[in-house]
Amino acid sequence: MIKIGIIGYGFMGHEHMTMLSDFDGIKVTAVCDIDPEQLADAPADVKHYAGAKELVADSEVDVVLIVANNNQHLQLVKLAAEAKKDIICEKPLALSIEDLEEMERVVAEHGVKFTVHQQRRFDPDFRTAKAVFDAGTLGDVYTVQSGLYGFNGNMHDWHIYPEQGGGMLYDWGVHLIDQMLFMIPGKVKTVFADVRNVINEQVDDYFKILLRFESGITAEIELGTYFLRDNTDKWFERHWFLGGNKGSAYLDGFDPKGSIARTTQLLTNVGGSRTMTAAGPTRSFGPPPAGRIVTEPLPEVHTEHRNYFENYVKAYHGEEEFLVKIPEVKRVLKLMDAARESARTMKSVDFE
Ligand SMILES: NC(=O)c1ccc[n+]([C@@H]2O[C@H](COP(=O)([O-])OP(=O)(O)OC[C@H]3O[C@@H](n4cnc5c(N)ncnc54)[C@H](O)[C@@H]3O)[C@@H](O)[C@H]2O)c1
Repeated sequence: MIKIGIIGYGFMGHEHMTMLSDFDGIKVTAVCDIDPEQLADAPADVKHYAGAKELVADSEVDVVLIVANNNQHLQLVKLAAEAKKDIICEKPLALSIEDLEEMERVVAEHGVKFTVHQQRRFDPDFRTAKAVFDAGTLGDVYTVQSGLYGFNGNMHDWHIYPEQGGGMLYDWGVHLIDQMLFMIPGKVKTVFADVRNVINEQVDDYFKILLRFESGITAEIELGTYFLRDNTDKWFERHWFLGGNKGSAYLDGFDPKGSIARTTQLLTNVGGSRTMTAAGPTRSFGPPPAGRIVTEPLPEVHTEHRNYFENYVKAYHGEEEFLVKIPEVKRVLKLMDAARESARTMKSVDFE
């Protein structure tokens, strides 16, 4: 049984407690928060501590799960490693490459296990897009788009303060970039990006990142929190698009709806029938000849966030590797730096 101590019992600390309260191979034995009010509803059979120092001194804790504000991660990783506790840290692991390298040093010095909670590798929308990509049925994929848009104009709590590690790149950007790099193999040659503070003065609340892979694939990641919209029940939009030379895949929503459109016969030079649109006649953008396009359902993918901790338990006991490796986390952080540089200079940045 792996005994876990949770450091930081806010929104995500509670989520972890709920998931791990009944989990094969894991038992939460302790929890701490610097804000005593946060511990008011912590389970009574789990030890409560007022701070991380007391928690890491507990011999009933094997692994600490760091779920405090982003700017606390460095000092908490050091504290835990020095106490010889294995570590799972929430994303974003570090706010800079220097911080991440300091973590790597201290973790190596004390020989503790170290990984990051990037459970969005198990999101259904992402896994479905990845299954389509991996199946190869779209032919040569040349473009992949991942978009997430909020329509209520909301960024909350400490996420609006740069000194706490706020901003959408650190918040969702880490996940969306990680997903893209986990799906598309090979080097990223260039990064071109816009990272913007649309209404927040101090932190980014919009980004668009274009990655050009050595393989030729272009990946686009776009997120906005201020795409306002009214009179709708839809308060966010999540989509994926994958385009290949033999097919396209459209996915909409976190529980994705959509389809794959394919052809067994490439639609080259099929005669120019005219279609009238409100903007005049077109030949390229009219309907395809009858019978050429086959639509297929999206693959059924069984995935859930619990899979992250299932991997953790097996990897902890040496039965498989930790899914999320520190060099992968570092690559995402470097890519975020390149995106910021590109946004600042308005130029593309050479990457790998
Ligand atoms: N993986 C995900 O999907 C996901 C989702 C949400 C948040 N997170 C991450 O979880 C972390 C926490 O985010 P949140 O939304 O729960 O924030 P939150 O503000 O709701 O909770 C953070 C808690 O940590 C406590 N805290 C701060 N410093 C501390 C310290 N030094 N020692 C002990 N407790 C401390 C705060 O008092 C607070 O209760 C962040 O790193 C965030 O990026 C990850």
